[in-house]
Amino acid sequence: MKAVGIKGTGRFLPEKNISNFDLEKMVDTTNEWIMTRTGIENRRVLEDDQSTSFMAEKAAIKALESAGMTAEEVDMIVVATVTADMSFPSTACIVQDKIGAKNAFAFDVNAACTGFIYGLSVATSMIQNGTARNALVIGADALSKITDWTDRSTAVLFADGAGAVVLKEVSEGQGVLATALGSDGTGGKFLYLPGGGSLNPSSHETVDKGMHYIHMDGSEVFKFAARKMADIAVEALEKCGLELDAIDYLVPHQANTRIINNAAKRLKIDKDKIYINIQDYGNMSSASIPVALDEVVEKKLIKKDDIILLDGFGAGLTWGASIIKWDM
Ligand code: ACO
Repeated sequence: MKAVGIKGTGRFLPEKNISNFDLEKMVDTTNEWIMTRTGIENRRVLEDDQSTSFMAEKAAIKALESAGMTAEEVDMIVVATVTADMSFPSTACIVQDKIGAKNAFAFDVNAACTGFIYGLSVATSMIQNGTARNALVIGADALSKITDWTDRSTAVLFADGAGAVVLKEVSEGQGVLATALGSDGTGGKFLYLPGGGSLNPSSHETVDKGMHYIHMDGSEVFKFAARKMADIAVEALEKCGLELDAIDYLVPHQANTRIINNAAKRLKIDKDKIYINIQDYGNMSSASIPVALDEVVEKKLIKKDDIILLDGFGAGLTWGASIIKWDM
């Protein structure tokens, strides 16, 4: 089987910042509650006239620059998102047009906050089976657009951003060593957006009832998250014959510092081997892992041949982990 690895990374964060102190003026909350219960201090949000593809385009251009590739050389574009610009065309097709990747085929995947890992897995397989020679995999979400800014239980958590990677064939033994994915549809009721789809098409009534906003049972999501993050990492390691102590660096989904620390404790990973940037950006869903990865690369926290664990969970419920032998 062909070896496939990450050869370029990029990110984009909107300029506009909302701090915990700003939120204190918007809902009944405090900086102290948000910091201690979630680890979040700031989050970036788009302007009203900006959308997910606006961020995805910019992250994609950075990733292509980092990989030394032109847009015309791209064979495949995968955008992981739950906040597509619109139901169709896919955000991937919109990005294709914006960056001029005229030789690519393009589609979206939706696995909520695990979307980037799912997208990476799909793209890796498609390069391995010869459908494409390379791929631009983008995680982009504008959760500010589906958040009820008067609901303190969700408004403090979610934000906007985009991260991207370029995937290519690499030398044998390098790149994505294994991916493990999981889903449990029975948990769909804990995190969902009921309005605007075929079940509840948008109407005055759906808007009046706030059905176009995220609905979440935070404690149920919390309970499953840390356990599943640990279990799926072990499953991915087993698939490539590695032990827990092989992990050089963990780049987790950034939903809550307590969830990350809990998962890391179960996996016996030291704090200095975990990247956390949730304090600056909050939960950006599909964008959290690729944005974190790009920062890790920029800060030179990982080096060639390091074993990297990408690990996340999200609505669905979904969860997933990728083990990568770094090759940049
Ligand atoms: N400010 C102040 N108080 C608050 C706030 C707030 N923003 N939000 C809730 N509270 C109150 C609650 O009303 C409750 O008060 P009560 O005891 O008087 O009823 C109290 O704080 C404790 O609430 P809990 O929900 O038990 O707080 P918890 O410690 O569980 O933290 C949180 C809540 C942060 C939401 C946590 O459960 C969590 O992070 N869950 C995971 C959520 C998540 O990751 N979602 C995204 C998944 S990824 C994706 O696909 C998008």
